[in-house]
Amino acid sequence: MSAIHQRSGCQGIRRASLRPDFPVLCQSQDLHYLDNAATAQKPHAVIDAMTQCLSQAYAPVHRGLYPLAEQATESYEAARQQVAQFIGASSAHEVVFTRSATESINMVANGWMGPRLRPGDRIWVTRMEHHANYLPWQRVCQQTGAELCVLELDAAGALDFSAEAVFGPRTRLIALCHVSNVLGVENPVAEVCAKARAQGIPVLVDAAQSVAHVPLHVQQMDCDFLAFSGHKMYGPSGIGVLYARDERLQEMAPLLVGGSWAGGGGGVPAAVGPSCDASAHHGPGGCHRRSTTRGAWLAYFAVCRCAAVGHCVIYD
Ligand SMILES: Cc1ncc(COP(=O)(O)O)c(C=O)c1O
Repeated sequence: MSAIHQRSGCQGIRRASLRPDFPVLCQSQDLHYLDNAATAQKPHAVIDAMTQCLSQAYAPVHRGLYPLAEQATESYEAARQQVAQFIGASSAHEVVFTRSATESINMVANGWMGPRLRPGDRIWVTRMEHHANYLPWQRVCQQTGAELCVLELDAAGALDFSAEAVFGPRTRLIALCHVSNVLGVENPVAEVCAKARAQGIPVLVDAAQSVAHVPLHVQQMDCDFLAFSGHKMYGPSGIGVLYARDERLQEMAPLLVGGSWAGGGGGVPAAVGPSCDASAHHGPGGCHRRSTTRGAWLAYFAVCRCAAVGHCVIYD
């Protein structure tokens, strides 16, 4: 049994007791699914929460002033709060819903790092990264003239931090996975963050493979950014999370502008699936619409138009 499973307390779980939770596995006792690192099957709890939302509580989030929309907004924000607690964020405000870990990392690369990079700056990734945590940095370096540096592994598959340049004055970011999808090793991310912070270097942690297996606490880890997807942690696909420390969020410009439905996230049903969710309403992809003057004016306009129709119940 791996160290990760021992730490997450999985050793006491019997296979037979898990099967009934997953409808797909109930089809046949001969069906065994071993591809969880790619994507996990969905338990009843997730399917039921999404069905309940789609059939009884679906409405726009942060866009309507009637009861169903308010309820959808509350569920959505409750999911955000739940994710914040799950990863130990200091506030739900630091949880940005996206479409995937890939999108979360791209948001940081293009919405935060890109505008800050200058020729000669360095970004460090590791030899064990998934493409999702490699290609966005490669591209942003190509676009800006910065240098993409790769941290090598030692003979045992552990990261080799002996290169002094890693925490050197030209480093602008270190991006590394918490658990490798290639080797299964767990990297000492808290240690890396502590060394990096001492030099004022931000760290992005790709938690796509760890979020379902290792207890996460972003404040204890002391990372600047953390990314993961819903579909690898028994949640729906099309939804992911970017955690960004408040200070970094303030520095980010919205990557997508326009309608909030276009800004990212898997929408309301995915958000209320109990595992995780995403949105563009808060942080890089979006804005707080309801408090705007335009929002209040539109609401007033809509009420006047509806009142003119007659036989129309207007809820306040
Ligand atoms: C370590 C790691 N990071 C990132 C990703 C990308 O996840 P997604 O395709 O859900 O964005 C994966 C997917 O396998 C992964 O294993």
